[in-house]
Amino acid sequence: MATTYVVGNFKGGVGKTKLVTMLAYENAAVKGKRTLVVDLDPQGNATSILAKTGDIPVIERNITNGFIDGDLTKQITNILPNLDIIGSNTAFRSLPKILMKKFPDDDLSAMTYLRKLLEPLQASYDSIYLDVPPTISDYSDNAMMAADYCIIVLQTQSLSLDGAKTYIAYMQYLADTFDSKLDILGIVACMLRPGGRVDESIIEEARQTYGNNVLSTVIRYQERLKAYDVEGIHVGETKSGLKDSWDIKAHGVFVDVLDELNAHEDVFRKMKEARQ
Ligand SMILES: Nc1ncnc2c1ncn2[C@@H]1O[C@H](COP(=O)(O)OP(=O)(O)OP(=O)(O)O)[C@@H](O)[C@H]1O
Ligand SMILES: [Mg+2]
Repeated sequence: MATTYVVGNFKGGVGKTKLVTMLAYENAAVKGKRTLVVDLDPQGNATSILAKTGDIPVIERNITNGFIDGDLTKQITNILPNLDIIGSNTAFRSLPKILMKKFPDDDLSAMTYLRKLLEPLQASYDSIYLDVPPTISDYSDNAMMAADYCIIVLQTQSLSLDGAKTYIAYMQYLADTFDSKLDILGIVACMLRPGGRVDESIIEEARQTYGNNVLSTVIRYQERLKAYDVEGIHVGETKSGLKDSWDIKAHGVFVDVLDELNAHEDVFRKMKEARQ
């Protein structure tokens, strides 16, 4: 059975897609886990990054057709060993219309449609990562209802926890109203401005509010991470056959994030087992 993760924050451009694509890459390439990325964003950023990563000129199969046909199993594209994607493109802006047509009077079925469509894929993967646009919308509702855990991105330069706080409050609303099963697996501080400082006061405020949910690994600005948007994610080699040290550094941060998240997941698993 796969575990499903959504990376969330109701703010744009905070590093959600970077986190999804890098975690999925490390999970597949370093940890050897069968990994699926589901791109729910009509911008298709994760799709384009992973297409470049797998040297695939265009990803034809896509989530829109899967949602229309009621079958995602035929929309999977392989990127690397252990790493697949269900890609997205601008056609997926029609999601509200698709849901309206399929479930005219049934909000709950509309919100849990992705969860239902992922069921047949559960046995084929260890981990499923959902990438969503930064809005409270049919996209985020479906992702939050389908996921077991959310990983929250905290932008440490915005001088506020706003986008993350709204996300957590909305998560609570879904749990209370629709009995969603989502837990916060971890809160990851990201810093996207070149030369910017990590705002320790924001991290401290987050620690006071959310305790050990805040990971000790911080994702700092790295040119190399930005370059993966155009070059695809990779580990290059120098002329003398050594691994490129900038790539090692860029990947190392996300392996650390993954290790911390896995440790949190072990704690959740033990708590759940103890309750049974
Ligand atoms: N740690 C980092 N170092 C350098 N650049 C980064 C880092 N994280 C993200 N970026 C860059 O910042 C930009 C925004 O990141 P990303 O697309 O991951 O944000 P997002 O939250 O998914 O945005 P959206 O809300 O539009 O989906 C991208 O150009 C990405 O390459
Ligand atoms: Mg994104």
